[in-house]
Amino acid sequence: MRILILGGTTEASAFAACLAGRSDLSPLLSLAGRTSDPRPAPIPTRIGGFGSIDGLVHFLMEKRIAAVVDATHPFAARMSHNAAEACDRIGVRLLALRRPPWVATAGDRWIEVPSMIEAVQALGEAPRRVFLTIGRLELNPFSAAQQHTYVVRSIEPIGDALDAPHVIAIRARAPFIEDTERALMEREAIDVIVTKNSGGTATYPKITAARALGLPVIVVARPQKPVGVEEAETAEAAVRWLERLHRPAP
Ligand SMILES: NC(=O)c1ccc[n+]([C@@H]2O[C@H](COP(=O)([O-])OP(=O)(O)OC[C@H]3O[C@@H](n4cnc5c(N)ncnc54)[C@H](OP(=O)(O)O)[C@@H]3O)[C@@H](O)[C@H]2O)c1
Repeated sequence: MRILILGGTTEASAFAACLAGRSDLSPLLSLAGRTSDPRPAPIPTRIGGFGSIDGLVHFLMEKRIAAVVDATHPFAARMSHNAAEACDRIGVRLLALRRPPWVATAGDRWIEVPSMIEAVQALGEAPRRVFLTIGRLELNPFSAAQQHTYVVRSIEPIGDALDAPHVIAIRARAPFIEDTERALMEREAIDVIVTKNSGGTATYPKITAARALGLPVIVVARPQKPVGVEEAETAEAAVRWLERLHRPAP
């Protein structure tokens, strides 16, 4: 059974690792190509967009894909919508492998906002030292608030994505641990953190470090993903879904 995994996440890598070496399945991992040096995967990998919904339909038919597992990041809304539409159009089974969002607990000082623009507004007028942990592709709205100092962490160089006078760029890739997150926040005298509500464990230590230091965190809510798609929260649950497809109960 040929399976397409839409990846770019820790969960997609874990799922790929679960399928590696299985002779009854033929998985293919797809990456968008945003990271110049992606971690090597234990299954065949392709890189680059499909060319929207029509391109994905063509790809699925040409490669005779029987099932798609959408394990993209919770903020990768376009790819998920394209996958839902393409699979629906040609009757390919689709599973969304989605980690649950983080939920504030005792001691968290969260300011939840619906978008990056509102995250900028939530920083306020007074200059602050801001730890921006939102990747590099959605930095532009922060160019509108030039009074702040931004400590930006991303996997790839940010180039000119953030047009502000006080920017400190740090390159690093998850997973992170609380001790080093806390040390970074103290060293850079961070006043406030901005994050997407990504969920998962790999980047959660920034939340626990902020809690320990009593720092406020501006948490950007997830975009809408397609409704009516079957969901699994873990790689193991996604494997069970595939096995039910592959060997339906008598
Ligand atoms: N957004 C985030 O915060 C974030 C964080 C960590 C990792 N990622 C990963 O980075 C990638 C891009 O994220 P995004 O937010 O830019 O996505 P997006 O806005 O949903 O997708 C934009 C376009 O990128 C292509 N694309 C996205 N994911 C792809 C995949 N796995 N394989 C092939 N093409 C893909 C598609 O191009 P075509 O229309 O040409 O097919 C899609 O229409 C995803 O794989 C995602 O899992 C995203």
